[in-house]
Amino acid sequence: MNLYKLPRHVAIIMDGNGRWAKLRGLPRVFGHREGAKTVEKTIKFANEIGIKHLTLYAFSTENWNRPKEEVEAIMSLLVEYINTKVPSLIEDNIKLRFMGRRKDLPEMILKTVQEGEEKTKNCSGMDLVVALNYSGRAEIVDAVNEIIKSGKKEITEEDFKNYLYLPDLPDPDLLIRTSGEQRISNFMLWQMAYTEFYFTPVLWPDFDENEFLKALYDYQNRERRFGRVTAVE
Ligand code: IPE
Ligand code: IPE
Ligand code: MG
Repeated sequence: MNLYKLPRHVAIIMDGNGRWAKLRGLPRVFGHREGAKTVEKTIKFANEIGIKHLTLYAFSTENWNRPKEEVEAIMSLLVEYINTKVPSLIEDNIKLRFMGRRKDLPEMILKTVQEGEEKTKNCSGMDLVVALNYSGRAEIVDAVNEIIKSGKKEITEEDFKNYLYLPDLPDPDLLIRTSGEQRISNFMLWQMAYTEFYFTPVLWPDFDENEFLKALYDYQNRERRFGRVTAVE
């Protein structure tokens, strides 16, 4: 692994928990529980190898349309996760932040989220962003509404970026999506203009260090051109 060519920001669409459970004849919730273990290992590994920003797509605004029991199970896993893992995040100097439409989050979830952010706010190591009640289109619309409120008549791309949920978060360099689906599912639409995409058929609960390394190697062997031509022909 070339540690000098690591992506600064890795974003992950953690998909395939339901299928993982179904393959074993288990209810979907078991897949989410197993997926939570992968979350923990992924965070540890990303931190160890020196990824600066890690964004995990945990729950989209569209995911509210799932059966009530499943939504409740995911939410209670999230609360449990934040409440029990914050001490180890602090120990590892990891700062936890949330990205999504906060105003529509149930009171209890919002409170847990804010406590997690508050407790880790002085951590200066890896920046861990959890996308929760997140929609890329909603983020853009929320930004536009804020701009209208500010009275601005014209803006630049740089101004626009400042109205996103986390203005200081750099654009993802690498997006990983597990489970074989090759779509963006409303994730970071503005920020992914020049992100490298990596798709793997591995289901999220089976995504391990080795699979993460494969994605990183793949990224390191790409040439990012940003619309230009190769420097030396
Ligand atoms: C991803 O796994 C977790 C969330 C969306 C919360 P899924 O639950 O989407 O798993 P599949 O896609 O049904 O297998
Ligand atoms: C995307 O996965 C959202 C998360 C991983 C949180 P989905 O399973 O909701 O996406 P679709 O429905 O397959 O596009
Ligand atoms: Mg899915």
